[in-house]
Amino acid sequence: MGNIDSYERPPERFTMPRQPIVAHTLTNLDRATARFRSEVGKIALVTTMGALHAGHLALVRFARTKARRVIVSIFVNPTQFAPQEDFASYPRTFEADFAALQALGVDLVWAPAAEVMYPPGFATRVTPEGPAVVALEDKFRPHHFGGVATVVAKLFTQVRPHIAIFGEKDYQQLKVVTRMAADLDLRVNVIGVPTVREPDGLALSSRNVYLSGEERARAPTLHRVLKECAARILNGKPIAAVTADGAAELERTGFVVDYLAARHAETLAPVTSPRDGPIRLLVAAKLGRTRLIDNIAV
Ligand code: PAF
Repeated sequence: MGNIDSYERPPERFTMPRQPIVAHTLTNLDRATARFRSEVGKIALVTTMGALHAGHLALVRFARTKARRVIVSIFVNPTQFAPQEDFASYPRTFEADFAALQALGVDLVWAPAAEVMYPPGFATRVTPEGPAVVALEDKFRPHHFGGVATVVAKLFTQVRPHIAIFGEKDYQQLKVVTRMAADLDLRVNVIGVPTVREPDGLALSSRNVYLSGEERARAPTLHRVLKECAARILNGKPIAAVTADGAAELERTGFVVDYLAARHAETLAPVTSPRDGPIRLLVAAKLGRTRLIDNIAV
């Protein structure tokens, strides 16, 4: 794709119809979205960091069913990575991403450079609370949701979509973004879409490419253990014992477990019994150098 920065559709290097507009600047984004807003029908936004897989494409397909215009943002957001994390090595696959989005009939790809998102002198940060401070991801990645909330608030402000589609795979993120959009009156309906899984149960993730062959073979244990824990909770077993057993089984399989927790599905507050409300089981664990997260409803 090179460095296209134009409201116009890219040169005819592709044979497929309906090439998405690619915008790299706010001026070009505004020109395209002004036209979309003048039309009847909704605008949907799917926010991504690129390296698109079938899970992202399911979000785009879902967006297509809900809106007349679908915009996909591709931006590897530096502010949500800690210095020791994988920002530099995070997979960047714009050409393949663009081809996949074109095939799905996406209308606009919003791909700002870091200097467009964070110009010199940028000094404002959204600090989410509520579901962002419940000792799950936030305990192990304390910088993370501030970066996510800041960039997603900016993306919502820049694009002004009617709806925004997020994967349930990043369940805490979904709750943080939903809360943030409501609290800041951003007038966007945030919709969660179920996790897409490999046939063996492993949740699709851009980071799965980091797994060695042997780790990939063990990785589906994460989902199997979650399902076993959910079944035991439904059978009336004490939640604390169930999650402790689940974590121990993961450790035996070679995972280093950050957390395996049962939480209220909306607030993410700890629960001790199904009487506390709808339960979501959430897990994060490292397999070798790859950190995997997953969750399921009980
Ligand atoms: O889930 C992601 O890919 C990112 O956290 C998001 C929402 C695009 C913000 O950078």
